Amino acid sequence: METQTAKILDGKALSAKIQQSLSAQIQELQPKFGRPPGLAVLMVGDNPASAAYVRGKERACEKVGIASFGKHFPTQTSLAELEDTIAALNNDPQVDGILVQLPLPEHLDSVKLLNQIAPEKDVDGLHPVNMGRLVRSEEGLRSCTPAGVMRLLEEYQIPVQGKQAVVLGRSILVGKPLALMLLEANATVTVAHSRSHEIKSITQSADILIAAVGRNGLVTGEMLKPGAIVVDVGINRVVDASGKDRLIGDVHFESASKVAEYITPVPGGIGPMTVAMLLQNTVKSYLTRF
Ligand SMILES: NC(=O)c1ccc[n+]([C@@H]2O[C@H](COP(=O)([O-])OP(=O)(O)OC[C@H]3O[C@@H](n4cnc5c(N)ncnc54)[C@H](OP(=O)(O)O)[C@@H]3O)[C@@H](O)[C@H]2O)c1
Repeated sequence: METQTAKILDGKALSAKIQQSLSAQIQELQPKFGRPPGLAVLMVGDNPASAAYVRGKERACEKVGIASFGKHFPTQTSLAELEDTIAALNNDPQVDGILVQLPLPEHLDSVKLLNQIAPEKDVDGLHPVNMGRLVRSEEGLRSCTPAGVMRLLEEYQIPVQGKQAVVLGRSILVGKPLALMLLEANATVTVAHSRSHEIKSITQSADILIAAVGRNGLVTGEMLKPGAIVVDVGINRVVDASGKDRLIGDVHFESASKVAEYITPVPGGIGPMTVAMLLQNTVKSYLTRF
């Protein structure tokens, strides 16, 4: 029987390392600045997955010394009330970062709401100003999940320049900004999506393959170039034989890890990197205020 040959890109360990260094930085700066960095995570409704993500973000904030100004609103909250809350947070000198946990209940226009966040406090990097800065390769707050992918590749000294990078998925949250970041790092980038033909021949051309689709086990080993770098952004909840909830990525780990050189696990890959980048963006925003 073939065994796993791929090395693990350990997002959990790198996230812990980044958090340790942010914590030390905050301890040093807080006495000079007179306050800790502050992050407001806004959540609307009772989506259990969102609630778990928000709890994770707040716990991470507490661990590194970032103050939380989060608010949890009932499902029926109006757009006007949320806009007022964001306006107040935009003007609050204790708050460096504002994040609206997605998805929002259907009656709320998430684009309209995200556009209310002051770009300099937009730690999720989703405001058109920050997206525009990314397109132009200007300094700005970069979206957390794609930034986490790039940071993980950098940590393992995986060369990106000149490589064929394939991104599966073209969402504004992951696929599009990631394609831009890879391009900025001088990769040759292909973006595939639900209307792409011959996905297998596209994935087989990838030196670096990033899956951000949301389809359990979509990418199998036979779809990969031998020695590829495989980054699995997907998070899919499945119920296993014992009735327990389990998280599975877009990549079929067992077959892919026999072909790839490096691979991210799910969980323990890009999920923790996303949290680390959120904390890092909050500290970055804090530093610009003094
Ligand atoms: N690890 C993290 O921290 C993190 C953060 C964010 C998201 N995620 C996970 O990443 C995944 C993607 O998230 P998202 O927000 O980008 O999702 P999304 O908005 O639903 O976008 C999915 C993308 O995948 C494409 N797609 C769908 N089926 C496909 C197929 N069979 N072949 C190729 N492409 C296909 C879609 O194409 P069209 O554009 O043509 O519809 C779309 O561009 C989800 O599992 C999500 O839970 C993880």
